[in-house]
Formats: sequence, C-alpha cells, structure tokens
Amino acid sequence: MNQSVFYTFLQSSLLLFSLLLTPLCAALQITPKPLSASVGNDHFNLTHDSKITFNQQQAQSVAQQLATFLRSPTGYQLPVSQADSTTKNSIAFKIVDIPLSQEGYALSVTPEGVEIQANTATGLFWGMQSLRQLLPAEIESRMPINQANWAIPAVEIKDQPRFSYRGMHLDVSRHFFDVAFVKRYIDWLAMHKFNVFQWHLTDDQGWRIAIDAYPKLTEIGATRPHTVVGHTYDYQPLFDNKTVSGFYTKAQIKDVVEYAQARHIEVIPEIDIPGHSSAMLAAYPELSCHQLAVKVQPQFGIFEDVLCPREDVFAFLGVVYKEVAELFPSQYIHIGGDEVIKKQWLESPEVKKLMQQHQLTTPEQVQSYFIKRVAKIVQNLGKTVIGWDEILEGGVADDAVIMSWRGTEGGIQAAKMGHQVIMSPYQYIYFDAYQSRNLDEPKAIHGLSSLKNVYQYEPQPSHLSAEQQAFIIGAQGALWTEYIKTPRHAEYMLFPRLSALAETLWSNKTQKSWSDYSQYRLPALLKRYQQMHLNTAYSSHKPIISSEINGQQLVATIISEIAGTAIYYTLDGSEPTLQSQQYQKPLVITDETQLRARSYVSDLGQLVGDARLTLSPHLALGKEITLASLAAEGSATKLQDGQFAYDQFYSVDDYAIFYDTDLEAVIDLDASTQVQQVKLGFDSGRHRQLHPPTHIQVLGSSDKQQWQTLAEVNNPRGPMSVLSFAPVSVRFLKVVAINSKQSDDIQIPKLPLYIDEIAVY
Ligand code: ACM
Repeated sequence: MNQSVFYTFLQSSLLLFSLLLTPLCAALQITPKPLSASVGNDHFNLTHDSKITFNQQQAQSVAQQLATFLRSPTGYQLPVSQADSTTKNSIAFKIVDIPLSQEGYALSVTPEGVEIQANTATGLFWGMQSLRQLLPAEIESRMPINQANWAIPAVEIKDQPRFSYRGMHLDVSRHFFDVAFVKRYIDWLAMHKFNVFQWHLTDDQGWRIAIDAYPKLTEIGATRPHTVVGHTYDYQPLFDNKTVSGFYTKAQIKDVVEYAQARHIEVIPEIDIPGHSSAMLAAYPELSCHQLAVKVQPQFGIFEDVLCPREDVFAFLGVVYKEVAELFPSQYIHIGGDEVIKKQWLESPEVKKLMQQHQLTTPEQVQSYFIKRVAKIVQNLGKTVIGWDEILEGGVADDAVIMSWRGTEGGIQAAKMGHQVIMSPYQYIYFDAYQSRNLDEPKAIHGLSSLKNVYQYEPQPSHLSAEQQAFIIGAQGALWTEYIKTPRHAEYMLFPRLSALAETLWSNKTQKSWSDYSQYRLPALLKRYQQMHLNTAYSSHKPIISSEINGQQLVATIISEIAGTAIYYTLDGSEPTLQSQQYQKPLVITDETQLRARSYVSDLGQLVGDARLTLSPHLALGKEITLASLAAEGSATKLQDGQFAYDQFYSVDDYAIFYDTDLEAVIDLDASTQVQQVKLGFDSGRHRQLHPPTHIQVLGSSDKQQWQTLAEVNNPRGPMSVLSFAPVSVRFLKVVAINSKQSDDIQIPKLPLYIDEIAVY
C-alpha cells in the first residue's frame, strides 16, 4: 500500500468507525459508566402490553418497583408476575449465578425484550437504574407523557461497582430536613448507585433524634431561636429571628431506614461526640466539665463546650447509643470525634486527675481515651465505630473505621495502619463548597469544588501499595447545611456533582474520562434532571476568568470547564448579553477594567453565570516588593497580581495572609516615579467579610532612609481603602497595615490579616 492509498484507507476506516461509534455512544448515556457494554443497532419498544417478570421471590420487589416507576410517565399498568423463562415483550428480572460481584448485573436488551440478571436483588436493583437511563429522559417525569411507545436501545451490559462503600452524608442539624425530603434524597442516591446514606443527626445547632431515656435532648436540643445571617465569620454578625426546630421520632427513623433498605441503601447514623455537642449540653449541661448553661448554637463553627470524660457521661452515652443501635440495622455507628477543643478539659481538676490516673500526658491522649471508651460502648452493642480522622490522634481504637475529611492524609495513615478507610476530603467532595466563583452562586461556607474537581478525585492514592489501597473501601460526599436552608438549595448543591462522585465510586478507574462524561453523558443527565424538576447547577458551564502578568502586560483569559461553551463578556462592568462580544482569545488589559462574563447554555436557552474580575494594571505591577515579615507560604504574590478580590466570593487563594504580624511592604519602583494614590484591598466584600486592619499608612522615599508619610487612615472599612495624596515623585513606597484584632478562638490568638493587592497609581 503506498502512502496516499494508506491514508485514504485510514480515513475511510475512521469514518466507518465513527459511524459505528455514533449509535454505540447514543445508547450509552449511562452515569456512572458501566464496566462494559456492546450496542446493537435495534431497539426494544416498551408498550402498554409489555410485562414484567421475576424468577424468584427475592426479585419480586425490584420488578414491582420498576412497574411503579414506569406507571406515572407511561400510564401503563404493566403486570408483574413470576416466570422462570423469559417471554416475548417482557422485562425479566432474574437472580442467577453470574460471574460478577454481589452487586453486579448483566443487562440485555434485544428487540424481543429486556433481561436483567444478577446474583442478588441488589444487583438487579442497580441494573434497573441503568435500564432507567436507557429509556428517554421523559421517563423521569412524574406526570403522564403522551407517547405511543418507549424505545430502549439494544445493548449488552456487564457491570459491577469498583468500591463497596459508596456514601453520601446529610447534615440535618444545621438545618432540619423533613422525612419527605430525606426519602427523596435516598431516591437520588439510589438512582446514582450509592449504597450508603450517613445521617448526621446531631451537632451544635440541633439534636434531631428522639431518645426515650433523655427527652430533653429533643425538647431543648432540637430548637434554636435564631441563626446568624451572612457568613459566620463576618466581623459584624447579625441574627435572624427565625426558629429552627425539628427532630425525627423513632417511628420516622424506622420508616426512613425501611425506605432506604428497599432501595438497597444502608443508613449509618452519626451521633457526634465529644465536640459538636452544644445541643446535647444545652439539654443536659451536667455532661460538660464546667456544668454551666450552654445554648443551642445560632452560629456555625467550632465551640469550646464539649463532653467531659467522666463516668456519668459514658453511662449517658451508653444509653443513647443503645437506643440508636436498636433503630439502625447497619453494622456501623458513626461517633464523629471531629474538631474537639480541649480547653475545658485542661481547665478541669477532674480531667487532671484522670490524666494522672491513666498516665495521659497530652490533650490528644484524653481525646483518644474518650473515643476508645465510646468505641467500647459501640462494640458491646455489636457494632463497629466510624470516626472522622481526628480519632487517630493520641491513639486509635483497634477496629475503628476512619473517615478522612481534613484531606487524605488521615486516610492514608490509617490505611497504612491497617484500618478500613472511607475518604471524604473536603477539598473535593464536600458539596457545601462553591461550585464556581461566579457571583450568582448562593452563599456557601468556604472553598471551591467544581464539577471537574469532584470528577477528578481519586480515592486510592497511587503511592500506596495494592494492599494498602485495599483498606480504602470507598468514599463519601458530604452535604453540610450551614447555609443550606431549603430542599431547593440542597438540590442545587447536589446536582450534578453527585453524578461525578457516583462515577468515581462505581465505575472502573480506566473507564473514567472527563471529556466523555462532560461532553456526552452529562448533557443527557441534565435533561433527565430537568424532567425530575431538580434545581440543577449549571456552574461548570459558567465562565472562569483568570489573569497573568506577561512581561509588563496584564492579560486576561476566560474559559469554561465544559469545552465549547459560548462565553460573552463586557469590559465596563455592565451585564453581558447575547449582543456583547463573544470571547475568542486572551484580552490585554491596559486600564482598570471590571471584566464581566456569562455563558450561554443552549439546553436552557439562556445565559448563566456572573463572572467578574477587577483588573488593574498599576505602577507597582512586576516591581520588587520586600516584606518586613513573611506572609503565609506562597501568598505574597497576591499583593501584586493586578487582581482585586472584592468582587469575587471569598477564596483564601486571593490573599496575602499575615498571621501574628502586621503588613510592612517596601516597593521599589525602579526609578523616581510620580504617585498620587494607593489602594489596598482587604475584604472579600462578597459572602464573607474579613477583618480590616486597624490602621494603614503609606510613606514615600527616594533613598529608603528618609520616609515621608503620604497618607494614613484609622479603622478603614472594607472592601478596600483608597488613600489619595498630592502627586509626589518617589522611588520607594512603604505600606504599613496594622493587624491588631484579637480572636475569640483560643486556637488562633490573633486574627490573620488578609490583603489582596497593593495597587499604586
Ligand atoms: C467535619 O467536617 N468537621 C467532619
């Protein structure tokens, strides 16, 4: 074959291949992506006279569930009956021995019918979830759809999960969510093939489970009269006057557990001790070391009031965990163990005595003593303890399962020690974090975890041995609800990030592909979510603005995580419309510019997002800057990056941070330069106010010896200070910002000073 013939051959083969691939892809818009699938070019039509069969008793409930699911959109009353062999025009569920894992399934669709085989009813249930995604998106509608038949593409799927623990958590303490919502949450987990629901039932802001022996836990601990408005770390906190109250009765808990069981989901209760226990202490103040009154917290954070390591407290907890164990058939009870402030322990003569008695020399060892005592209680109830990774500190109970949230280090350490590990690193799979930096995102606690960031999370670090990796049994996403007050808001934080985590947990690692997921399967899923009337975030379509200093030029770039998204922008701070410039290439910024951008989502037929960045090419850009005392690692460059942070939501990455020290910066302008204004940014302005400095001073010099004060201000207000003065020629500028705010938190004696830019004009 000569070269040109070869290329013609190659081109026609590629064309043929891509033609073949088109129906293949079209049939496979299933998330999480199955292990293997081969696609035919025919289909099965579900009609009003189709039947649903099951081969044995254990398969009956799945068959029934499918019939119920199909009834609303199709209007079909499909009969469900037992049958050993598959009949024409039927959907058959069969429990048989197949060479797949216990949760695996084989799904076959031919023009004659559908057959799902599995070793267990659980496998059949997951197979049904895949079948659901093979049907048109309208099948998700809970209203009748006028359609003559429902086509299911011909396909042969073999599928099984990668991880045995595929979890999602829900915090019902910070805001209470009723049983109806919890059931919908469980339905969403089932659809995405999660198999664990961790119910975070207690925290500082509310106790949400009835305990017969201690009625005050819910009489007092389930209610708070008001809640902080704005960010909990704002320097001028305000409170609303809205009571947040609610708890689940035992009958409701049992109902939810049964509901989850029917959907092959295990419910793991979390009763968080010895910290995050203000609500428990509000009800029973005698459980603390100081025994003083404690309130159900109206703010969010970490609090000093903790349970005391005393015999009566362990006895109390013994009763609580016993009642909890009776309600939840799960093998596990989560005991929290996170973020324990040890101040009250160190102040307590009783704890001092305990430390002497048990040769405990550090507060971490007291925590370890506490956790081991509770682990024993849980073990005696026939259950296994799960705890957040803090329970590793000071020595961990032998069989405890570690849930690694402060990153992955705790999980890695625990896996090396031979503990089972569930990864839940906040940097990736905490769904209370922002999904984009666009200003139309609802207020969130902190941090950013975009859809792509979630998708790219890998729970088993490659530097661990295969044996160590095997201790990592899965991962769990978390939905903390400090700022999430409503079901609609919860939906927004979950969708579509839940699907990205589902793929990590279920799909084979080699099957994962961001482009396949984001370009091909996500659009199908988004259509499905629309049919479900979910409040879905289109945040990964939204613009991401960044800038860099290229020589002396400030250059802005706008991208979107979803490749191919059309982005429109303005340079004057006005709202972009479809008539604005469409972004094509990087923009050179020559004057102070408020860049704004929005993305067009064709499915919605509208623009989404509100990306803003104020860029300022000022005199000090690219000039040498010397700090009298160091900024936190890597953060000093933020003083001179040409970006102001005040029109973004808060991100620690925008700021130079000064712990325990003032800012004193000397800027060398290279030559005598006329200056008349300095701007200093110190507040995010949006969603989270940072503490301003108490005093700012700007000085000029021609020799770095003699300094002349050019401007100063006392107690400036955010988001930035503009210090103007009569034009003067100087080579050196000194900017001093005094940081003298004391903190209420004993762990941080002085609040850090955040400065985002020193702009010179
Ligand atoms: C946690 O986020 N404090 C477990």
